[in-house]
Amino acid sequence: VDYPDLVVVGAGLFGLTVAQQAAELADARVEVIDIRDHIGGNAYSYMDEETGAEIHKYGAHLFHTSSRRVWEYVNRFTEFTDYVHRVWATHDGEVYPLPTNLGTINQFFRAHMTPAEAKALIAEQAGELAGQDPQNLNDKGISLIGRPLYEAFIKNYTAKQWQTDPAELPASIINRLPVRFNYDNRYFQDTWEGLPKDGYTKWMERMAADERIHVSLGVDFFDASQPYSKDALKAAGVPVVYTGPVDRYFDYALGDLKWRTVDFKEVRYDEGDHFGCPVMNFSDADVPYTRAIEFKNFNPERRDAQNPDKTVVWEEYSRFAERGDEPYYPVNTEADKALYARYEELAAGEDKVVFGGRLGTYKYYDMHQVIATALDAYEKRIAPMLAK
Ligand code: FDA
Repeated sequence: VDYPDLVVVGAGLFGLTVAQQAAELADARVEVIDIRDHIGGNAYSYMDEETGAEIHKYGAHLFHTSSRRVWEYVNRFTEFTDYVHRVWATHDGEVYPLPTNLGTINQFFRAHMTPAEAKALIAEQAGELAGQDPQNLNDKGISLIGRPLYEAFIKNYTAKQWQTDPAELPASIINRLPVRFNYDNRYFQDTWEGLPKDGYTKWMERMAADERIHVSLGVDFFDASQPYSKDALKAAGVPVVYTGPVDRYFDYALGDLKWRTVDFKEVRYDEGDHFGCPVMNFSDADVPYTRAIEFKNFNPERRDAQNPDKTVVWEEYSRFAERGDEPYYPVNTEADKALYARYEELAAGEDKVVFGGRLGTYKYYDMHQVIATALDAYEKRIAPMLAK
């Protein structure tokens, strides 16, 4: 085999960023492999023919960043719409704005409080457990925003996310619960946000559109019968960037790192708009899913190209992942963190292999964070390996 200068395992945003930089800055020949049949990793999306919606196959993806470096980098490959993310929640037969803000509070308490009045009320309610060290997530939630708001908007939602009674969950899962004492319901507070104008997949195709980059899909790094396998590359001394699960790389030698996953249930409606917004949370226990995504509403600027009479919604059901499920959110208990630290040590001992991305480093990263860490990893660790 005529090996390239670098093999990247995983065509997600980490892998594509590294591949793009290696080709452009080091004139490297790069092979990108992915076990899936498409590029883009979890940010991949496709067009739904019936409705004209862009479906984010692995869950809703909203781009936002305050890093000028990342914003300038991504703008080389796509333009962004002026989409601004906002979320609503259904609770006890009413729809409220999120994140919890003065609108939510005044609607909930049937009041017309000023910011100062609302602040005083929440502080008083949060004082219920004053002087006690919260022993579980329930107590922590109450001590952060008071029992009424906690029980309405956080308790059951969290129970559905974790399939566990919050009284049984560690307090450490939440550090803060944002409450805004004004009517700002803009979800992200970053300098820049938006959605890729012609879709996520086009964006990522352009990242790989360098003739020095070759992408092979449907290829498993651990399949010894193909030329870019772990063993073959090690024997040939080819530098590797690995963005798959770190425990899988070491054959789960120290045990499995724990993840949560999400099952999506697709529902189609014979109407143009079902929720009137892109994301509706369901805060109560009687609805079994946590939230529903109505993809058409992420792209109102495409209205003319969308079907005015049909819409598609994905309901999200959260659960603990088994091996073979899509790993989405690291569970990150103290035991998981300790286990990852041991895997990290093994990873550091792998000559010529750089571990990156959310699976390779067992971390929840947003897209902008993954791109920032990939640009850094390229500069600090990969460029030196490629220097001839
Ligand atoms: P990613 O998982 O994308 O790529 C890894 C690739 O490696 C995969 O394509 C996989 O197939 C491949 N691979 C694994 N094992 C392999 C093997 N053995 N052989 C070959 N290939 C292998 N971010 C954000 O900014 N805004 C948002 O709104 C959201 N929303 C969101 C929702 C949900 C449900 C999740 C789970 C995540 C988000 N994110 C997000 C985060 C975003 O998805 C994330 O930051 C990036 O997709 C991570 O890119 P990576 O390249 O690290 O991993």
